[in-house]
Amino acid sequence: MNLKSRPVVCVQGLGFVGAAMAIAVASSRQANGEPSFQVIGVDVPTPTGLARAECLNKGLFPFACADKKLLAALKTCKRNNNLWCTTDPRVYRRADVVVVDVPFHLEVRASRPNPDIGSFRKAIREMAGRLRAGTLVIVESTVPPGTCERVVLPELPKGVLLAHAYERVMPGKGYFDSIVNFRRAYAGHTPEAAEACQKFLSKVVNVKKFPLTQLSSLRASETAKVLENSYRAVNIAFMEEWGRFAEAIGIDLFEVISAVRRRPTHSNMRQPGFGVGGYCLTKDPLMAKAAARSYFGLDAPFPFCTRAVSVNRDMPLVSLSKARKLLGTLRGKKILLLGVSYRQDVADTRFSPSATFVKQAQKEGAEVVCHDPFVAFWPELKIRTQKEVPSLKNLDLIVFAVSHEVYSKWNVPAWLNGSRPAVLDANNVLKPAQRQAFQRMGCVLESIGRGKV
Ligand SMILES: NC(=O)c1ccc[n+]([C@@H]2O[C@H](COP(=O)([O-])OP(=O)(O)OC[C@H]3O[C@@H](n4cnc5c(N)ncnc54)[C@H](O)[C@@H]3O)[C@@H](O)[C@H]2O)c1
Repeated sequence: MNLKSRPVVCVQGLGFVGAAMAIAVASSRQANGEPSFQVIGVDVPTPTGLARAECLNKGLFPFACADKKLLAALKTCKRNNNLWCTTDPRVYRRADVVVVDVPFHLEVRASRPNPDIGSFRKAIREMAGRLRAGTLVIVESTVPPGTCERVVLPELPKGVLLAHAYERVMPGKGYFDSIVNFRRAYAGHTPEAAEACQKFLSKVVNVKKFPLTQLSSLRASETAKVLENSYRAVNIAFMEEWGRFAEAIGIDLFEVISAVRRRPTHSNMRQPGFGVGGYCLTKDPLMAKAAARSYFGLDAPFPFCTRAVSVNRDMPLVSLSKARKLLGTLRGKKILLLGVSYRQDVADTRFSPSATFVKQAQKEGAEVVCHDPFVAFWPELKIRTQKEVPSLKNLDLIVFAVSHEVYSKWNVPAWLNGSRPAVLDANNVLKPAQRQAFQRMGCVLESIGRGKV
């Protein structure tokens, strides 16, 4: 690759965040229309890391992707020859900026969440020893507050600038825009680092429309990310008991929530569903609790966050108990599960609530057939999923678990083709016309969060 005279940005970690961030950085333009940066994506030489780097080098996004804008931006980067990926860490020597997008794992134990500081430190060490003075390191990973000062800073050579600017990226239809056309918060370890970070982000993010928010310390920025995700997780857990109440007294909680959301102070109220999955909300609410003990010697129990994580984790078992009620027993029953990713229109299956559902249903003797338009192979359960509309022959139950857009467009009568399985809408997936169609055709329909009057 011809590095020309542009600043070199290394993006460490080519997962759901880093792969998209590398494309976003490579899409930045100078006033004359030329790319602002030469971008080098760096992963580890494991089969996964190699495959991700190779994919991007071929102009292919390493994950099933519903965002046409991101795919088009990748093609443009390839045409401009300013994005290249490798598993060779020596490239950090060339970096003017390093963006850290590797995971910080946390073993989720409610009473004592256990942070894996060691593997995060190892990733930082891999690049830190190769950096020059004046290089800017921006940690985007979600980390327990205090990590930048306690773990990252001691590894950096003198003169390297450190900032934290957490990601709000949302894989799905608005993937690219969730980086480039979205508000960002950041902080620098020193005023010089903060200024360098602000200048860099201003070239990647559309700051005219989405101004940056500067926080006064690395700790404050790390806490902002963890609090954001904890707030969301607690709100989701809070709706769980209201869903049960609505089902019991015969009301439609989605109707109620949409009325409540009209009040501006309540516009982001969550709704009941199938469960909470993904790499972030399943662990981030315990990050502050872990930081309190590991970095600050404090015993901060965080009861709301702790409870939220366990309520959210057990949510798919509520759908399972509805399935049990609908079918009498699960033993010998055939269930079609629609959606195995953790969220609509994405391919990410990490900590998916569908996994909890499938494992328990199988334990109780059910046969579960899984379908997902974004996932051909489900790595955590090591099963092939169906990509085409599956056969409904001999089915006892269909569970709509993930609100992938295609499911809300299915022509139900044509699809049923005469069969009459029970239906559980576990995630407010079905449109009213689809619900009516199922009922007209004689299917018993149950929903999470919707009672029968
Ligand atoms: N997924 C999301 O939607 C999302 C959103 C906001 C923030 N985050 C945070 O961003 C971070 C990354 O998340 P992700 O979903 O992209 O994770 P991921 O697991 O999809 O990707 C991480 C990548 O980093 C690579 N990696 C690990 N160690 C490395 C090293 N030493 N050098 C180079 N590469 C290395 C892995 O091989 C992997 O490809 C996490 O802290 C996460 O909490 C994720």
